[in-house]
Amino acid sequence: MDDSIEIDDDLAQLARLAVNEQTEDVRLFVARLVRKYRSIKPGLAEQMDQYLRSKPARGGSVMRKTIRTEDPSHPMPVDNESRMSLLKVFHDDFGTVQPLLSPELEDSFSQIIQERKQSERLASLGLLPTRSAIFVGKPGVGKTLTARWLASKLGLPLYVLDLTTVMSSLLGKTGSNLRSALDFSKQGPCVLLLDEIDAIAKKRNDDTDIGELKRLVTVILQEVDEWPPSGLLLAATNHPELIDPALWRRFDLVIEFKLPALNQIKEAVTQFLGPDLSVFKHWLDILVLIFSGESFSDIERSIQRFRRTLALSDASDSDVIIELVKSKALTLEHQQRIDVAVLLANKTKLSQHKISEITGVSRDTIRKYTDGKAPSKERQEK
Ligand SMILES: Nc1ncnc2c1ncn2[C@@H]1O[C@H](COP(=O)(O)OP(=O)(O)O)[C@@H](O)[C@H]1O
Ligand SMILES: [Mg+2]
Repeated sequence: MDDSIEIDDDLAQLARLAVNEQTEDVRLFVARLVRKYRSIKPGLAEQMDQYLRSKPARGGSVMRKTIRTEDPSHPMPVDNESRMSLLKVFHDDFGTVQPLLSPELEDSFSQIIQERKQSERLASLGLLPTRSAIFVGKPGVGKTLTARWLASKLGLPLYVLDLTTVMSSLLGKTGSNLRSALDFSKQGPCVLLLDEIDAIAKKRNDDTDIGELKRLVTVILQEVDEWPPSGLLLAATNHPELIDPALWRRFDLVIEFKLPALNQIKEAVTQFLGPDLSVFKHWLDILVLIFSGESFSDIERSIQRFRRTLALSDASDSDVIIELVKSKALTLEHQQRIDVAVLLANKTKLSQHKISEITGVSRDTIRKYTDGKAPSKERQEK
């Protein structure tokens, strides 16, 4: 292998990073070069290593806080027709609470965070931190929320580019809109979230110019490839089946967000009840059953609704729960309905008649499942 060709490539890459003022990336890249050239050009490697050591990275390299939105020389990109801002900006500065995550997701994210804390160590082994990931999962399971939390953990600003907005801008403008948003984001370390990335593919059903869509996908493919390691490029989708397979392969990680498991529903209910937790504490098991199969955001919405009802009317907590069970019973699976009915029979003083009315489970079935238990007072009275 001709060493000089490789050095040419490395030099060009270094120049590109330097001209773009990607200082953090320059450092990472040089650290990689030190290792690479140690055996073939020890003098050069030593010299570069000394440069690195003579000026330590500021504030733990990429963990540094950066605020660029207020910079008048780099105004936020807008759609020229609608003047709508294409990027939403969040500066949470280590402030957001952690979303409820499954243990697997917690592991994935803590690895991403560790990689960035120790990026120079990785670089000394010729490794880069994870640069890109795509979040897959139903609506309301925390994809956007987690991107925001992750950015705040990394001390980076989060830019959210909603592809639905970009796609609704005038045809023929989408490409330049996308470019300007991406160029803006690349001016310094940040987390960029390409939200609802399937919006591009969805557009295929309309009578859109297919060539235009292909160009858009190409723009994104390039971006994923060239994304600087000081930043983190995230994408999110509810429709993995619509994503171009070529794009799919480009991401370093695919992270699947599942609907919450029962223990997570319990945590979610506890969290969303807030100060009303003490009022609803003995309904917790029933709430968990009722909400199984729902997303975090649906659970949150239901709970907020009944908390408002409780606050503003003279309904009791059990009235509120009964209404909730009634409204959900139809969408529950048969066995779930039975489980809810049995819980109600065991934990409350409601009559089997009433429980049957609320849940739609026949009294015979309720009796069968609760047989052997001491009959409740109301049942004795009947
Ligand atoms: N994992 C989670 N932990 C806590 N709250 C959540 C979680 N997922 C969703 N939520 C609630 O639902 C709202 C919408 O979630 P979001 O992140 O926008 O979902 P997605 O992007 O997956 O559609 C959040 O603002 C939050 O209130
Ligand atoms: Mg979202």
